Amino acid sequence: MSKKQEYYRLTQRMPPSPLLVQAFLLLASRKTALDLGCGAGRDTKWLLAQGLEVTAVDHDAEALAYLRNLQHPRLHVLQAAFEDVMLTSYDLVHAAWSLPFIQSERFADVFPRIQQAVKPGGLLTGQLFGSRDSWNVAGTAITFVTREAVQTWFADWTILTLQEEEYDGTTALGIPKHWHVFHLIVQRSGDHDPFCPSRFS
Ligand SMILES: C[S@@+](CC[C@H](N)C(=O)[O-])C[C@H]1O[C@@H](n2cnc3c(N)ncnc32)[C@H](O)[C@@H]1O
Repeated sequence: MSKKQEYYRLTQRMPPSPLLVQAFLLLASRKTALDLGCGAGRDTKWLLAQGLEVTAVDHDAEALAYLRNLQHPRLHVLQAAFEDVMLTSYDLVHAAWSLPFIQSERFADVFPRIQQAVKPGGLLTGQLFGSRDSWNVAGTAITFVTREAVQTWFADWTILTLQEEEYDGTTALGIPKHWHVFHLIVQRSGDHDPFCPSRFS
């Protein structure tokens, strides 16, 4: 079994992401959700159990196989890369541990499209990696961010949680790793759309 297969096998039955549960309590409208980089679908399944219509996106067919077996009437499974996926809009856009895997050279055009997929008044949740994360090595395509950049990107949103964590730990597979992570819950403004992509330049 490959490391990736082992990761999906281990995570498929994990409880939902604590950040998702926290965000769900703050969600005003609970009709639609996007699980971006859904992996083996632990959070998708939890959102379905809460009664939402869920679109689960991942570029990896092996991950999506776990969800396709569900054949749930409120589940839409989409195999696509973040860099290409066509999104509509959702009450909740949830991206547990997946946003850093937007290719760094594409981040400036892809991340605003993900922001746009949040309905006015809706929430965006997920993690981003900070620069001291041990996966930040020369040549990586992973995206690393600063607190200041995150605050700038969400200047017109309400930042409900921006929790920075840094510690020596392990990956889901038990491999030692230094984690530098920002946990994010942000709410898009309700009335007008002051969205401004030039902040990324
Ligand atoms: C660390 S896993 C997180 C899985 C799931 N959200 C969870 O918390 O259990 C990251 C997921 O993002 C997906 N992914 C990574 N890069 C991607 C990309 N560029 N486009 C679409 N999916 C991507 C991977 O296939 C993987 O399933």
